[in-house]
Amino acid sequence: MTEGKVLKLENIETGYRGVQVLWGVNVDVGPKEIVAVLGPNGAGKTTLMKATMGFLKVWKGSIIFLGRDITKIPSHERVKLGITLVPEGRSIFPNMTVEENLMMGAYMYNIKKDHRVIEMLEVVYNLFPILQERRSQKAGTLSGGQQQMLAIGRALMTNPKILLLDEPTLGLAPKLAGEVLNTVAKLRDELGLSILLVEEKVLLATNIADRIYIMNQGRIEHEFLKEDLTKKEEILQKYIGF
Ligand SMILES: Nc1ncnc2c1ncn2[C@@H]1O[C@H](COP(=O)(O)OP(=O)(O)O)[C@@H](O)[C@H]1O
Ligand SMILES: [Mg+2]
Repeated sequence: MTEGKVLKLENIETGYRGVQVLWGVNVDVGPKEIVAVLGPNGAGKTTLMKATMGFLKVWKGSIIFLGRDITKIPSHERVKLGITLVPEGRSIFPNMTVEENLMMGAYMYNIKKDHRVIEMLEVVYNLFPILQERRSQKAGTLSGGQQQMLAIGRALMTNPKILLLDEPTLGLAPKLAGEVLNTVAKLRDELGLSILLVEEKVLLATNIADRIYIMNQGRIEHEFLKEDLTKKEEILQKYIGF
């Protein structure tokens, strides 16, 4: 059902230079829902994110955002509608200050005139006080966990309705990874955002997700609903059972 969903990926097929990677993928995200797509390296998770943002054309299927078909509209239009990606690997600008990095996220607004930019900056600083403390410091001096928070903060500057997070805990020690995912839960609980989360850290993701898809070799192989999420052993088995 499309109604009531924020994002609906319907039967997505795509790939690179004629080599098919995704095979009829169906994924949806509801309001204020954290939906995790879990799967091993090479499963097609990042490809799914790129297709959702429009960085990669889909060959078949549709992308529906708030009831509107956006399959063919360009990426920057998708951002304006309220879809933002925090890409794998963060890609912050290490030689710019923390605040300059955040402002880069607001590129679509007229920064001097638009009060929304100041409002969003305040939202970000309230969520991540450490970024406010270090606002004038070069981003490259932040720890790995703080850099991930900066990348999330920069995405928030576009004032999204749904945030796509591609492996936000990559390369972080388990404790820091847990902290980053706790802040992801805050985005849902305090800002009311919908979140599509790609992760390889299964158990950590299970702690915050409302629903989980298991992806393997370009296909969704299993869906765990909210009431299934206590069955961590089973989730883990599905995940490592390939
Ligand atoms: N730019 C690309 N060109 C060609 N093949 C790619 C490209 N990016 C990813 N692939 C291939 O697509 C498949 C899925 O990759 P990816 O979506 O990055 O998986 P995941 O994010 O789940 O690790 C892999 O077989 C990978 O080699
Ligand atoms: Mg990936």
